[in-house]
Amino acid sequence: MRQNIFLIGFMGAGKSTVARMMQERFHMALVEMDEQIEWQQGKRISEIFAVHGEEYFRQLETELLEGLSQKENTVVSCGGGVAMRECNVEAMRKSGTVVYLSAEPETIYERVKNSHNRPLLEGNMNTAYIAELLKKRLPFYLAAADVTVETDKKDGIAICDEIFEKCTGRL
Ligand code: S3P
Repeated sequence: MRQNIFLIGFMGAGKSTVARMMQERFHMALVEMDEQIEWQQGKRISEIFAVHGEEYFRQLETELLEGLSQKENTVVSCGGGVAMRECNVEAMRKSGTVVYLSAEPETIYERVKNSHNRPLLEGNMNTAYIAELLKKRLPFYLAAADVTVETDKKDGIAICDEIFEKCTGRL
């Protein structure tokens, strides 16, 4: 694929897993934003939030995205908050297709319940909180997305193929 694919969506929507599968299945390069930021900073996401605060982390995300605009044939697994900033959405749109991976709060909870590297869910690890935050974010995800793919009760291969089908029609 000439253009890039940006996977957006809530924590636990499956962005990282699906991005790794897209890399293998469609021979794309892969950028996992959280991992890249952790590597650059030499700290886990939870430490970056604790030491520098959320705004600092959001700025790192914006800078990383700006740097990705030169890439081609790359699948980018975005952090769950990336679509909240308009400038991030513009940067993604410039170089690729934005795919929103949707999931129900119950599905998300099952996927993230044992994680301790998601500061926003620390102390809030329950379906009600996830549902509330998802409701606030949903308009941003939908506004940013060129296409949406539901992930509940689907396996990774089916999700990859649906993304490919929906995106190749647009590239
Ligand atoms: C965040 C999602 C996380 C990570 C950070 C903030 C968010 O990424 O970037 O904890 O605001 O939704 P994942 O969506 O990959 O878990």
